[in-house]
Amino acid sequence: MKMERIDGAAKAIEAACGGAEVGLILGSGLGNSFASLDVHGVLSYKDIPGFPIPTVPGHNGEWVCGSLHGKRVAVMRGRFHYYEGYDIEEVVLPVRVMLRLGVKTLIVTNAAGGVNTGFVPGDLMLIRDTINYSGVNPLIGPNDNAFGPRFPDMSRQFDPALCEVARAYARELRITLREGVYMWFSGPSFETPAEIRMARALGADAVGMSTVPEVIVARHGGMRVLGISCITNMAAGILDQPLNHQEVLDTGERVRKAFAGLVDGVVRGM
Ligand code: HPA
Repeated sequence: MKMERIDGAAKAIEAACGGAEVGLILGSGLGNSFASLDVHGVLSYKDIPGFPIPTVPGHNGEWVCGSLHGKRVAVMRGRFHYYEGYDIEEVVLPVRVMLRLGVKTLIVTNAAGGVNTGFVPGDLMLIRDTINYSGVNPLIGPNDNAFGPRFPDMSRQFDPALCEVARAYARELRITLREGVYMWFSGPSFETPAEIRMARALGADAVGMSTVPEVIVARHGGMRVLGISCITNMAAGILDQPLNHQEVLDTGERVRKAFAGLVDGVVRGM
């Protein structure tokens, strides 16, 4: 990825609404949930030079700058998925833009299929670790030392202190917060029942089509990361029913308030 493309996007955002210390990436259906956010500026992705344009319903495609509990935040309402056909470098471009804007802490959210049979749709899951099952890595190619090292450590992708804050707020808000491993499948087809049995055997608690590339790039750049999945459905083959995107959106909508409350609490408490 050309540094000019990243810098061009960062400059446009900075001119419109300045830098940020916290980045938020909001997954399917969770886009418009932050009542307490004091909005300073909204930029449609199509108006940010160098940005790709999203294609999935439920992803609004807006960059929102504002402050939340006194912290300057950059909120992505909608993200870029590898299955949409973007280069993997485009998928992670916004995270690099956040790095250029000064973001030190990234909160990533997503919709995920429950693999752990103890979960139910509507559960929230603190991501403890990830499995990259996609076969791609956003850091393949020449390494730019301005962003991070050639071989970045991934043994602690998620910041223990931020996880602790999330647990504390979940308790306070009386939200059941599951914990587990998120496994990235490229999609866009949902997984097969055999793939879900494999995922479970490999240690996954949830599966989804996003997040892992962003987390890799965030950690490469030294950000502290927190990840929360909304279990929108049980993964393929667990229940005797077909999967569909509407179910993902409907469950996301049902737990939107709790999800937003938790993220809000984490920003307040960190
Ligand atoms: N699989 C993959 N991605 C998903 C799922 C799923 O079951 N649910 C929401 N995102």
